[in-house]
Amino acid sequence: MSEKVRVAALNEIPPGKSLAVKIAETDIALFNVDGRLYAVRNACPHRNLPIHDGKRDGTKVVCPWHSWIIELQTGAVVAGPDFHIKTYPISVTDDYIHIEI
Ligand code: FES
Repeated sequence: MSEKVRVAALNEIPPGKSLAVKIAETDIALFNVDGRLYAVRNACPHRNLPIHDGKRDGTKVVCPWHSWIIELQTGAVVAGPDFHIKTYPISVTDDYIHIEI
């Protein structure tokens, strides 16, 4: 059973930016890619380190630690071994971002 949780105000993540949040002990990275929002587990599958500060190339983020590349739309590692990180449904209501956990 999923729950919708308010995680940030929309103006906290302008296009091109990211934000790290914590919900119920889970680290989540939010990304705004050209106005479209993505939420993924903020833990690279390589060594469980945060990815929210990684460089982006469109919807791909380069892990800042050892450069594995993760596709934000699917959570798949696209340059590195065949791993995935969890993605979360995301929505905006009344200028606040919500994710389903
Ligand atoms: S922790 Fe991400 S590539 Fe090593």
